[in-house]
Amino acid sequence: MTKTFALDSTQAAFAETSDPVAAAMFPQSLLALAPGEARQSLLTVHSILQAKLPAGDLAIYEAGGGSTSFLPLDVLRRAHVTVVDIDEDQIRNNDYAQNAILGDIQTHRFTPDSFDLVICYNVIEHVPDVEAALLGFCQSLKGNGMILIGAPNPRSLSGFVTKYSPHWFHVWFYRHVRGDTNAGLPGHAPFPTLFHPLVTPANLDAFAEEHGLQMIYRKQYESPRYPEMRRRKPVLAALVDAAATVMNFFLPGKTDVRHGDYHVILRKR
Ligand SMILES: C[S@@+](CC[C@H](N)C(=O)[O-])C[C@H]1O[C@@H](n2cnc3c(N)ncnc32)[C@H](O)[C@@H]1O
Repeated sequence: MTKTFALDSTQAAFAETSDPVAAAMFPQSLLALAPGEARQSLLTVHSILQAKLPAGDLAIYEAGGGSTSFLPLDVLRRAHVTVVDIDEDQIRNNDYAQNAILGDIQTHRFTPDSFDLVICYNVIEHVPDVEAALLGFCQSLKGNGMILIGAPNPRSLSGFVTKYSPHWFHVWFYRHVRGDTNAGLPGHAPFPTLFHPLVTPANLDAFAEEHGLQMIYRKQYESPRYPEMRRRKPVLAALVDAAATVMNFFLPGKTDVRHGDYHVILRKR
């Protein structure tokens, strides 16, 4: 008899990509995150989606979905996924969407009340008119439908560096610090970054309030680049950590400049 063992969320927070039990339960995108706050917050996002999405078949819109999904596998298995991406290579490499559309999330519109969930993960920082994209998401959502956004926080150390450094530096960082040999090739990250004002969490809160969306989850967390760097480049990581500690000391309240990314879940009222 074959026995299967489920992982609880504490075990999942530390599971390796090569663990077959974890790989059957969690997307590779989650397991590829170095254990830390980013993975923990994504596990929380998964539990919220599992609890709040309706039972049965789901309609999901992945805006700028590229070729990687961060959704829980049991949600993906019962979903009809429509991905819209502006990059032909990303659309070609996508293997989880039933409907892949080459298009621009700022202008592409669906019939109102089409989707239970819109996910826009690692995308809004690349889009010139985030408001147009968000308005399209709201229109396409069913009542009680949710929008999941994952994005970098412009008001953090990594956000600041990303915003004010040239694109070649991002490619260099991905290749030499993250060890991604495909970085900068067509259809591969990093993609040019713009940081429209609505990428800032406080502005996103105000947009949600104005457009009848309830914020049901918001978490700023340490960018996964830190645990990754501590593993791969410990000397560089120690220098960056020391710089972050000094900055935190001089900043008001409990600000942590390492909180480079955030998750937000909005619900249509
Ligand atoms: C960093 S990748 C993220 C892909 C995937 N969501 C992930 O997390 O791996 C950003 C994606 O957004 C897409 N993108 C950027 N601007 C877009 C736009 N205006 N409309 C549609 N897709 C866009 C890019 O082509 C790319 O696939």
